[in-house]
Amino acid sequence: MLTLIKNGTLVTEEHTFAADILLKDNKISRVENPGVILDTAEKIIDATGMLIFPGGIDPHVHMHLPTPAGYSSDNFLSGSRAALFGGTTTLIDFVTPHKGEPLQDALAKRKAEADNCLTDYAFHMSPVEWRDSLPDEIKSCVKKEGIPSFKVYMAYKDSIGLEDEELQKVFHAVAEAGGMVTAHCELGDEIETLRNDFVKNGQTTPAFHPLSRPAKLEAGAVKKAIGFAAEANCPFYVVHVSTAASLEPIREAQQRGQKVFAESCPHYLLLDDSRYQGSFEQTAPFVLSPPLRKKSDNHALWDALADGTIQTMGTDHCPFSFEQKKIGLHDFRKIANGAGSVEHRLTLLYTYGVLQNKISLNRFVELTSTRPAKIFGLYPQKGALLPGSDADMVIWNPEKEQTISSQTHHMNCDRDIYEGFKTKGAPEYVIVHGEIAVERGNWKGNALKGQFLKRKIIR
Ligand code: URP
Ligand code: ZN
Ligand code: ZN
Repeated sequence: MLTLIKNGTLVTEEHTFAADILLKDNKISRVENPGVILDTAEKIIDATGMLIFPGGIDPHVHMHLPTPAGYSSDNFLSGSRAALFGGTTTLIDFVTPHKGEPLQDALAKRKAEADNCLTDYAFHMSPVEWRDSLPDEIKSCVKKEGIPSFKVYMAYKDSIGLEDEELQKVFHAVAEAGGMVTAHCELGDEIETLRNDFVKNGQTTPAFHPLSRPAKLEAGAVKKAIGFAAEANCPFYVVHVSTAASLEPIREAQQRGQKVFAESCPHYLLLDDSRYQGSFEQTAPFVLSPPLRKKSDNHALWDALADGTIQTMGTDHCPFSFEQKKIGLHDFRKIANGAGSVEHRLTLLYTYGVLQNKISLNRFVELTSTRPAKIFGLYPQKGALLPGSDADMVIWNPEKEQTISSQTHHMNCDRDIYEGFKTKGAPEYVIVHGEIAVERGNWKGNALKGQFLKRKIIR
């Protein structure tokens, strides 16, 4: 099947230029000056007035995540469908084994859970404890399973968080295997003490969630983890950076030439801690970790996106229904932790970043697609508009205006943390493997079948 996309403006991380694209089955076959490819395709899409981006890659989502409040409310089917509505065509989720469970066994279970994913997908592997067999298991993930990235948690010490000595061993084992460590950076012991003290004093509302997880505990963890990475000579990626204070150790490491990458999420750019003032119903949807910070942090993060300190934009998509949030009505520690935004990543970053001149259009593509692909070993299969790349792309209507609402979003969640946000710019077509998944807001993707992506990090 040949599909010709004519008259569009292609945007890559480096260039913006008029070109026509020919898709052959599930791959990009040619990219040529306008008019060069003759109209012999079975399907022709006129992209006059449209921008064309490589399909979005969200490097940080949690579909069907088991928690004490039940599973996060999007499974791989509903979450990937919502992602596609927003122009994201590849997801990187996580494998979180139980304690004692071999990494390969947990991977097999997770693959079965993701079998109905409509987009292509990959996983970061999360060691949740140290054991002597871990170096071999990690090696097998990197060499056999195509999983070269490992996520460790410095918070959540009562469940999946690691002790410092365990972290150091993981950094060494991953470095040895040729992989990369990514980390949720918050100093877990200090947080446990603070949150338990608040509850002991009867301070149980969501207002105490951010107070129990101050910015300095994130920055302290970032600094510590960067030190472990340096000592082990291991590439390192800080997930969901939320605060200006964390940018300092990240910048210092990057300036020293250490391989340190950073991700942020739209909520740390667009929302702030004033969201924790109000009733439980108003504030509980914003309970996520790290918490929302100050407006000054929002500004510092925008600057860090623009100057390249932060290389990727994930969402940490982890929605819960209000019923699940309500489990913590009398104890903020029990509120299901997380929020959904996989559908809004591109529209929010375009509206509030590109259109407000905070980042260029090319940086937008870099943050949402090309750099995640390069960092996590998916490039140039993904993240590129090149002959031979997968035919995953977004034909973007820069004029389309919308208002975000839980009434109209496609995520399986009865609240939307961006309720009422106005956006300009939206996908006109979303194309996956050369097939139209979404056309002018209408779902066309019932036949889609996502594939597990084996990856290799090029150091
Ligand atoms: O609040 C969040 N982020 N929930 C998901 C787990 C995590 O920390 O990434
Ligand atoms: Zn996290
Ligand atoms: Zn997360």
